[in-house]
Amino acid sequence: MNIFADKVAIVTGAASGIGLGLSTELSRRKAQVIMADINRDLVEEKAQELSGSGGRVQAVFLDVADAQAVQDLADGTVQSRGRVDYMFNNAGIAITGDVKDMALPDWRRVIEVNLWGVINGVQAVYPLMIRQGHGHIVNTGSSSGLAPWPTVVPYTTTKHAVVGLSTSLRSEAETYGVKVSVVCPGFINTQIFSSMKYVNIDREKALQALPFQGMAPDKCARIILRGVERNKAIIVVGWDSWLMWHNYRIFPGAYIWANRFIVKKVREQRKEK
Ligand SMILES: NC(=O)c1ccc[n+]([C@@H]2O[C@H](COP(=O)([O-])OP(=O)(O)OC[C@H]3O[C@@H](n4cnc5c(N)ncnc54)[C@H](O)[C@@H]3O)[C@@H](O)[C@H]2O)c1
Repeated sequence: MNIFADKVAIVTGAASGIGLGLSTELSRRKAQVIMADINRDLVEEKAQELSGSGGRVQAVFLDVADAQAVQDLADGTVQSRGRVDYMFNNAGIAITGDVKDMALPDWRRVIEVNLWGVINGVQAVYPLMIRQGHGHIVNTGSSSGLAPWPTVVPYTTTKHAVVGLSTSLRSEAETYGVKVSVVCPGFINTQIFSSMKYVNIDREKALQALPFQGMAPDKCARIILRGVERNKAIIVVGWDSWLMWHNYRIFPGAYIWANRFIVKKVREQRKEK
């Protein structure tokens, strides 16, 4: 059975990577997909491609850090389509480096997009989903929301918060018929690694040092939708994410000790040592 057929889904960060994979897979499953992204040209181009292959998609320019814009999108969707069945709060950015080399603006934008972006998405749809008596909020966290990960500390901070927000809200929401899940992917092969900010780190060296080829975003999207179908609280994507999570839970001391090697490795990629 296809539970997504004719459902109304908003996907943020839909122009690229996991968000594009989700939009593609949802439209293949006959959902009505509102593809929202800050990259206006790219989201329009990708939506046109999906429409061309029969998808019922609409491109929308959106900065998830703008609470009013997210609210307007949710309200506009209800006005035009009658409801919001799925809200995928997926847009995210990353930053890497030593915290010693970072300044407050480096923290602020990551928190605005990765954490406030999710909060804005939740606040925009949760009341209307309660009124509807149904709906599913799917927030994109990360493996680094399940276990510590040095050298991306502001990012890790936001992802731990997204996991806490989602798993806690889940218990409140279920009494209203609303579902909440958090997605925790490991390494997925997307643009985030080339577009992220490198603070005093040699970008090329860092990209070359990526340990293995990440999972394809389309495969990641299919795993996410299987988790959504099963209403899983935490949708872990990839063996690397699973390993991080379980290692940290079972051997927290050893896991934190091993993080020293990540710090050492990334410091070798610093421009000024
Ligand atoms: N790629 C990975 O290995 C990985 C692993 C774990 C979690 N994630 C998370 O998955 C999500 C998607 O990332 P991705 O890997 O597909 O990256 P990506 O860079 O390919 O896609 C992110 C999309 O979000 C959009 N975006 C950025 N800021 C935005 C904003 N303020 N408002 C609206 N859209 C915005 C970008 O334009 C882009 O289209 C992020 O939350 C990321 O943290 C990624």
